[in-house]
Amino acid sequence: MTLWGGRFSQKLDDLAWALNASLPVDQRMALQDVEGSLAWADAIHKAGILSDEEHASISLGLDTVHKEFSTGQFIFLPSDEDIHTAVERRLSELIDAAAGKLHTGRSRNDQVATDFRLWMLQAIPELHSAFNNLQSALVEQAEAALPHPSPLPQGEGTPFPFGGRVGDEGEPIIMPGYTHLQRAQPILLAHWWLSHYWALKRDVERLQDLIKRVSVLPFGSGALAGAPFALDRDALAKSLGFDEVSQNSLDAVSDRDFAAEYLFVCSMAAVHLSKLAEQVVLYTSAEFGFFELSDAFSTGSSLMPQKKNPDVFELTRGKAGTLIGLLTGLMSTLKGLPSTYDKDLQEDKAPVFQATDTLLSILPVMAAALRTITVKPERMRAAIDSTMMATDLADYLVAKGVPFREAHSLAGKVVRAAEEGKVRMEELPLEAYQAIGPFEADVYQVFDPLESINKRNTVGGTSLQSVKNQIQKIKGE
Ligand code: ARG
Repeated sequence: MTLWGGRFSQKLDDLAWALNASLPVDQRMALQDVEGSLAWADAIHKAGILSDEEHASISLGLDTVHKEFSTGQFIFLPSDEDIHTAVERRLSELIDAAAGKLHTGRSRNDQVATDFRLWMLQAIPELHSAFNNLQSALVEQAEAALPHPSPLPQGEGTPFPFGGRVGDEGEPIIMPGYTHLQRAQPILLAHWWLSHYWALKRDVERLQDLIKRVSVLPFGSGALAGAPFALDRDALAKSLGFDEVSQNSLDAVSDRDFAAEYLFVCSMAAVHLSKLAEQVVLYTSAEFGFFELSDAFSTGSSLMPQKKNPDVFELTRGKAGTLIGLLTGLMSTLKGLPSTYDKDLQEDKAPVFQATDTLLSILPVMAAALRTITVKPERMRAAIDSTMMATDLADYLVAKGVPFREAHSLAGKVVRAAEEGKVRMEELPLEAYQAIGPFEADVYQVFDPLESINKRNTVGGTSLQSVKNQIQKIKGE
């Protein structure tokens, strides 16, 4: 059974059939297709297209189909071209001739767009909570890197600390902050963890913001021109959980902006995850040695017995490339399509499903791997050298009234003098300082990295106070 055989005298070529069929992909929208059809049956019953008996019989039949899908008992036939055909075919087996009335006034063009949007509306919250879980892991790690982390409220998440953390007494964990991947200024490790939290927060916001563009009902647009009877589209939208109805049928059957946007949100998030992953890969290398992955989240080499590889993070980094490809692919499909439905649009679902599956596979593993990472505070501390406080040296002169431009140059001269004397900056004698500028005996205090950190006390700065405020803000949201 096809939904369109009437005007043809020959059956579709087998290879053309295989190319045309979309069931392997769109069967994932089975429940949405049945739910959409149930709501459609209600709507056309109200519009006088179905009698009470026909409506009751179709609804009962569709309930059975729904049950068959949710219990895994639905049997597809080789002749099922797509999920819409499969559902209608099964309905016609289950009930009488009334099954043939269900498709009145609708087309697979408005139907597929409706199903796809319904599917996305249930996928978004799932992604949202997977993001939230990773965000929590980052906040837990940030708290673990502070001197007196506040314990998690009872009943929320896994209790702090994860596997006996360092840095939960005395001083906060400090590390080198980098620009251009060169040592720049000392920062709190907590500040670094949280930097990734905020990027993910934007991803979640984008996902939420997208809902208002997904939640628009295409049903009632027909193939392209609308439905030829009095259909209460607002009631139909409401019963399916849509916030709005589309306002132009030509646009409604071809609009896939929501799919492209969804893929952008996924790609942007993947880029954020890739950035985090790249840093973890670097920081677990012997050269940095800032982190050690737990055995549960590292893999070995078949050849080199000593190897402990950060595959989980490398795969995360790698999959970002794949996701960007999915976005680019759909954008290319959409570009240049003439108005309304074109079969090219059938290419829209596979990338959206793949992007969703990819993120849902990465996010929980990233969260678990980060929660079980071991931090090496001594390695981070050892990577902070006194040149990283050269800015503080300039600020020291500024506090004594020297204009910043000049202070910058004088501090630079101190860096050079230390380099030439092959000593650390704090080892240069006071006379050497005084030969350069208006330095006094208190100059040596600028080389305390924690001092340097705590001076950056602006909102969003790395000082202990600012970072504690940051966490409060996060928890208050
Ligand atoms: N399988 C199609 C898709 O995914 C459903 C819509 C088909 N419409 C049509 N006129 N053949 O886009």
